[in-house]
Amino acid sequence: DFKAVIFDLDGVITDTARYHYLAWKRLAEAEGVHFDEAFNEHLKGIDRMGSLELILASSPRSYTDAQKLALATAKNEHYKELIATMTPADLLPGAVDALDACRAAGLKIGLASVSRNAFTVLDSLGITGKFDYVVDAGTIARGKPDPEIFLKAAHELGVPPADCFGVEDAVAGVASIKAAGMYAIGVGDPRVLAQADVVIPDLAAFALD
Ligand code: BG6
Ligand code: MG
Repeated sequence: DFKAVIFDLDGVITDTARYHYLAWKRLAEAEGVHFDEAFNEHLKGIDRMGSLELILASSPRSYTDAQKLALATAKNEHYKELIATMTPADLLPGAVDALDACRAAGLKIGLASVSRNAFTVLDSLGITGKFDYVVDAGTIARGKPDPEIFLKAAHELGVPPADCFGVEDAVAGVASIKAAGMYAIGVGDPRVLAQADVVIPDLAAFALD
């Protein structure tokens, strides 16, 4: 029996994956890089500088570290504008019910997002109190698909990884869950999230059995 569940945030609980997409697209196109949904799929779950490196690898220009930092900062400023008006109405259908069902079943609940904006987003959504532990992305050395972030969440929840399951919308995120030795629920397209143990279209389809 599972004792804990560890959720991803962006694209699972709320549609911030869309905002990350829009912010990266504007940056990429300004740098002469073609950017579409297919490219974006590779960025989901990847941390800020890692995503930037993937985009700039397709740019005809070369960049100093200072220029890269400025671009990442500009993207984040744009992203913060996009999330500034978020409210509990921006919770995806089924998200609160899924969290409450896990709580009612006695599961510990963690959040494993590599986003440094995760605490802000949780507060805007009004759901910070629903988590027993939220990983601070700033303390993670290796982002997804490395298992570090899911292992850290399990450790802080006091539950062995084998007794945890993770919920993810990103290919890199599902890989991170599996590398941590956990059961993986994918949220999205089963053809994309082929490594997941089960795939549901959204949290409205989430059921504990
Ligand atoms: C992940 C998103 O949750 O957080 C990525 O899936 C994003 O798209 C990453 O790049 C980092 O987010 P932030 O807010 O720290 O730039
Ligand atoms: Mg995600």
